[in-house]
Amino acid sequence: MSYPYQIKSFEQYQTAYQKSIEQPEEFWEDIAQHFTWQKKWDKVLDWEFNTPKVEWFKGGKLNITENCLDRWVATQPETPAIIWESNNPHEASRNITYKALHQKVCAFAQVLKNNGAKKGDRICIYMPMVPELTIAVLACARIGAVHSVIFAGFSAQSISDRVQDAQCNIVITADGAYRGNKTIPLKSVMDEALVNCPSVEKVIVLTRTQMAVSMLNGRDCWWDEEMKLVEEKNDYSDKAEVMDAEDMLFILYTSGSTGKPKGVVHTCAGYMVWTNYTFVNVFQYEPGQIHFCTADIGWVTGHSYIIYGPLSAGATSLMFEGIPTYPDAGRFWEVVEKHHVNILYTAPTAIRSLMGFGKSPIEGKNLSSLKILGTVGEPINEEAWHWYDENIGKENCPIVDTWWQTETGGILISNLAGVTPSKPTFATLPIPGVQPLLVDESGNELLGNAVSGNLCIKFPWPGMLRTTYGDHERCRQTYFSTYQNLYFTGDGCLRDEDGYYRITGRVDDVLNVSGHRLGTAELENAINMHSGVIESAIVGYPHDIKGQGIYAYVVFGEIHTDEEHTKQNILKTVSKIIGAIAKPDKIQFVSGLPKTRSGKIMRRILRKVAEGETENLGDTSTLLDPSIVAEIIKGRL
Ligand code: WTA
Repeated sequence: MSYPYQIKSFEQYQTAYQKSIEQPEEFWEDIAQHFTWQKKWDKVLDWEFNTPKVEWFKGGKLNITENCLDRWVATQPETPAIIWESNNPHEASRNITYKALHQKVCAFAQVLKNNGAKKGDRICIYMPMVPELTIAVLACARIGAVHSVIFAGFSAQSISDRVQDAQCNIVITADGAYRGNKTIPLKSVMDEALVNCPSVEKVIVLTRTQMAVSMLNGRDCWWDEEMKLVEEKNDYSDKAEVMDAEDMLFILYTSGSTGKPKGVVHTCAGYMVWTNYTFVNVFQYEPGQIHFCTADIGWVTGHSYIIYGPLSAGATSLMFEGIPTYPDAGRFWEVVEKHHVNILYTAPTAIRSLMGFGKSPIEGKNLSSLKILGTVGEPINEEAWHWYDENIGKENCPIVDTWWQTETGGILISNLAGVTPSKPTFATLPIPGVQPLLVDESGNELLGNAVSGNLCIKFPWPGMLRTTYGDHERCRQTYFSTYQNLYFTGDGCLRDEDGYYRITGRVDDVLNVSGHRLGTAELENAINMHSGVIESAIVGYPHDIKGQGIYAYVVFGEIHTDEEHTKQNILKTVSKIIGAIAKPDKIQFVSGLPKTRSGKIMRRILRKVAEGETENLGDTSTLLDPSIVAEIIKGRL
């Protein structure tokens, strides 16, 4: 088996790119024909950004799981689809072949049906990183239900918002999750969330930690018992639901600059083609290789490069339940050695945190199986890039710096490993089909090279979002209204003298903390929920490991106990409202915020102070109370 559309040289890349721009429909049609369809499409592309309307392969009928499972069961049933490594290094790893995965997915699809699930239903998944999570995701896709995976670190409140927004009728969860030396009580967090979610009729609970959980009669049932019912009686079929190319595949919630997280919607065919095409080309995957993406399936990287990209390519995907520093900072390298990992795809924040432990965790580990390294989620700094290259890749593995977003479905700008040139800290060149464009503040296109501006995309690619769940207008406003006829990414970007792209970070009010997106408005809302808080403002500041840290300026009523205690209480509230990932790194109490006479917070000043810049704060004369700035500088943490 090989991939006819795998690009093998720089010249081939240039030819493919050119064709993808000049004849996009022919280009994608050629690629799409290599998948399993129940009926071919009527029209390759129909689009209009101002609405927005984007439709790929309209009229085509397929099921993505037939592409991820059945076609490999037919040709390579014994190839491992998933290799699973536990959080606990002493627990046996699991090896699940395509045949076994197919069987489990079909059986669990029947469990879902037995519990009332049908095509179009929204199903919430809140699970640890165990193979059953992948099985649950694929079983939803198998029956045409829309999965909404929620990262297992989110709080009850966050779950509840998401479940209500999507009106989910079924939840799949587990008793608990292991994460490093912690045990997280998933089911009890879910129980708290579901108090406010009347749409949920069934909760299916996997046993992972064997911690005590409450099981509500009539609503809650055990994964194992339900599976036994269908497996023992052999009471399930392997027939997949017939889906339209543009039927919804999943919703994934992500933060933006305003309001609550929105449900980014991806559809079946375009997303499948995109994750597969980018997986095969960016990582230059070769059959038999072991691909280890360290992300959690709760984020888009896990959806696209643990599940759909690799499995649709018949690859072996390694799923790791744990964290890079447990039981020690050598764990990733131990996993690489143990499973002979060929491709390692991780986040700059993980690299920076491991750098801090020095070289001893790497010593004695055999990393010679590694062929290709990748990074995703945030800009990588030069130092981390070189450390990764020298210590992990032994200067022998191309590094792909892959830029993309939840909304883009898969990678948009990246070098192709060993095929197109890499350049430290640069995502480099667009994937075929991607037409990036830089604009200035007023939306004028910046032509030529050696320019910086806001990154937009001017033509649809198959993997792009189609809408935000339940609110199409929000999708239009967020992504398609800032600049006419363009998709706006929210990122700033430099195109250098060679035409290579380097993403410089968000230009909107979104922070990127350890590769996780958090909106400042969302964070402020959470802090403001804390009793005693009058007002708050959040800004990001450079953080050695996390990339960006969260700096909170808080106006508090009367502090009854000491400040430290109050800070701890605020952190607790933020954990409750969003989750531990959203806890501010620094909280500074202030008597007021710098505001203009019209009441607008001057974030520019707050950002500069948080970054350590206490002079050159720019014009402060329009402030209502300029003296507040001196106080803020004085109290800086
Ligand atoms: C940032 C993660 C620089 C960017 C796949 C984007 C990056 C946001 C890179 C999306 C990269 C992602 N270099 N920045 N290689 N990859 N980003 O939705 O700001 O969680 O807009 O998707 O992460 O984050 P999201």
